[in-house]
Amino acid sequence: MTKVPDDVRLDLGERARYFAELTDVGVPRSALGAPTVATAESTGRARIASAPKPQRPPAAPVLTTEGAELRDLEAVRAWIGDCQRCKLAGGRKTIVFGQGNPQAALMFVGEAPGADEDEQGLAFVGRAGQLLTDIIEKGLKIPRKDVYIANAIKCRPPQNRNPEPDEILSCQPFLEKQIALVRPKVLVGLGKFSAQWLFKSMEPISRLRGRIGDYDGIKVVPTFHPAYLLRNPGAKKDVWEDMKVVRRLLAGDEP
Ligand code: URA
Repeated sequence: MTKVPDDVRLDLGERARYFAELTDVGVPRSALGAPTVATAESTGRARIASAPKPQRPPAAPVLTTEGAELRDLEAVRAWIGDCQRCKLAGGRKTIVFGQGNPQAALMFVGEAPGADEDEQGLAFVGRAGQLLTDIIEKGLKIPRKDVYIANAIKCRPPQNRNPEPDEILSCQPFLEKQIALVRPKVLVGLGKFSAQWLFKSMEPISRLRGRIGDYDGIKVVPTFHPAYLLRNPGAKKDVWEDMKVVRRLLAGDEP
């Protein structure tokens, strides 16, 4: 595995190019675009509130880096196969692809599977997953089965350590294809790694929270990870504020 020198400080787009050169995986289109970030202030709350409901943007053809067409999520899962593309392959039990409604209006992106997820092959089924279910069902009043949930990386890191850049980059094409196929109206980035990935920014989650990002025409709401909330229950009120933004975006109102 190629080691990135410690003194290399690159943003995610540059990292994508860097790793693409090193690993020859091809540069995902979305990794190259400049980030666009709308704040509640910059969008003009009153003016947008009365604007017509946004249409879902048309889906673009979804291709693998080799040019093969991916028609549905099953095809993306088949493309992943028994993945050996990064160093997490050796320690995982199961590839945790993601699950939920393939036509969901709302999609959550977490970080990486933990022990329970690795065991069961399903995203967010442990303690953090229970809390996420509460956020979705009690907070947003949406049945969990109606949303789509995936992680930035599909294999459990050893001892639940933070994902490393090469691991995120290895999994990036899969998450990109999942998002392109589900094409939700709103994406929620759970925690630092997924929020940074969706915003193509290295800013801390504390700075990303409160903004609405744009991922390929899809609204992005970053919020704290449920595992963080288990350790810091005081932050639940912030997540509730973020979920109110999600509700308004789903209803077609720009907060
Ligand atoms: N944390 C995550 O980010 N994802 C999971 O699937 C479980 C815990």
